[in-house]
Amino acid sequence: MSDAQAPDDVLNLDCETIESFQRQILDWYDTFKRDLPWRDNPNPYHVLVSEIMLQQTQVDRVIPKYRAFLERFPTLPDLATSSTADVLRAWQGLGYNRRAVNLKRLAEVVVRENGAELPRSVEALQRLPGIGRYTAHAVACFAFGAQVPVVDTNIRRILSSLAGRELSDRETWELAARMLPASRASDWNQALMDYGALVLRATPKRTGKPSEPFTTTNRFWRGRIVDALREHGVLTMDALVNALPYPDREEARVRGLVRALHEEGMVEYDAEKDAVGLPS
Ligand code: ADE
Repeated sequence: MSDAQAPDDVLNLDCETIESFQRQILDWYDTFKRDLPWRDNPNPYHVLVSEIMLQQTQVDRVIPKYRAFLERFPTLPDLATSSTADVLRAWQGLGYNRRAVNLKRLAEVVVRENGAELPRSVEALQRLPGIGRYTAHAVACFAFGAQVPVVDTNIRRILSSLAGRELSDRETWELAARMLPASRASDWNQALMDYGALVLRATPKRTGKPSEPFTTTNRFWRGRIVDALREHGVLTMDALVNALPYPDREEARVRGLVRALHEEGMVEYDAEKDAVGLPS
């Protein structure tokens, strides 16, 4: 495995190359920085919500949802004391609903164990529900000014192109740490994100394949089940299957997915009535 090797060639970039790259990106950012609402005033809770939403959803789709979510749940304690159903309703349109359930669990933990203050260190953040390496670094950096690297898909692409080859996970994090300009980590990481989104994204994709409909994946069906319950409230299993507007829906599959969603605490199931709804 390449991860086991010391990534010497990558870390051997000379100071001049690093400084010139830093200057190029930061100069570009001074002119083209995106005006994003979570950047105005980096309140830790706001940054956390934005980063969870941005994990799998594009910036343009996140912005209106982010504003509406904070209006509905202005603080961590508001989120902690709300119902999971309300949080899932506010999450509508973002997909990957597990993020919403984990965010509410996180709020409960932080209110219960840390006086409603988000922890500041990467390590403590990463122990919270739904927080992986990326989000822990992003929140520590953008909310608390930690001088740490952040690696998302765009940053990985930029660093691989700088290195001239596809980098492993470990190499990417190491190079990202090496590239951090002194005391400007937050600007730097967000500059790379904007550069990736505005400059690299604008370059044509290599594969010309049309995007496929996703109706075959469990993720697709799980999302539609939660959508139907948001819209209709409690439904019998028959009614739930009928509420899914796709000809290839299958009752057995829907039942299996409801069972899994129930085990994960995403839905409630009443066996006597064979009915399913969002958790109260
Ligand atoms: N994607 C994830 N986090 C981001 C941020 N803070 N700014 C821009 N794009 C992002």
